[in-house]
Amino acid sequence: MGQVIRVFPRIENAKLMELFRKGVEGQWSAAEIDWTQPLSLDRHEQRALAMVLTPIYLGEQTAMIGASSTIPQCFAAHETEAQLYLSTFLLDEARHFETLTRFYNTLNQRPLEVRQLKDMFRYQARLFKSRDRIEWLWGILLSDILARHFYSILAKAHPTSLFATIASRILRDEARHLAFAELYLRAALEREPQFGPVFLKMRDELLRLMEAMYAALKSEALLIGIDGQTLFGGVRRDIENKARRLHLSAAERPAEG
Ligand SMILES: [Fe+2]
Ligand SMILES: [Fe+2]
Repeated sequence: MGQVIRVFPRIENAKLMELFRKGVEGQWSAAEIDWTQPLSLDRHEQRALAMVLTPIYLGEQTAMIGASSTIPQCFAAHETEAQLYLSTFLLDEARHFETLTRFYNTLNQRPLEVRQLKDMFRYQARLFKSRDRIEWLWGILLSDILARHFYSILAKAHPTSLFATIASRILRDEARHLAFAELYLRAALEREPQFGPVFLKMRDELLRLMEAMYAALKSEALLIGIDGQTLFGGVRRDIENKARRLHLSAAERPAEG
């Protein structure tokens, strides 16, 4: 593809630029967290949290890599605003990864390995199958919705703990990610409605794998205050709301009957 490089690209999308500005101003560092705060968890709960946190921890890394693969595609499509915004998104996810790594070290625990939770591998594989930035961003959105509920349930279950402080910081970044995904994907789907059925199929696949991962970790999840029904009730509700706002229900109709 002969690509025209624009030295002075047009920047027109004010809403995306507003999110970019918020992304720049919302940056923080793991060094600002008071790492001496109490864990408020006994040894069994610490091990359980280390296990249950694993898919979210891996998800932070995947979101970072996903952003890095979408940025050149946005450049090629002359989507300068999205390209700028995704650079802040990439740093957000890198920071979440760094912060959780430091949290694991503070717990003196390791996350699970992929062989101990096979559906985690299947989940990653499905995300990495996405070639187009539009599909990638939908996968990241679904993962962000799971992460958002996970962090907020745990922050409420263990207030004043170190993890609650970390979770509340990460949640502020996630709010921007969800806002961007909705704005960007709505426009993308209007332009390329053929992604509608792809999105719905991917939603079903990823939801099934998310639920399978947490079914395998059910007793550990319950031990630290995560009830699967509450978690996935919230996740499904949020995904349905996003689907409605993206007008995905229209894509669903032909599959019925
Ligand atoms: Fe994140
Ligand atoms: Fe995110």
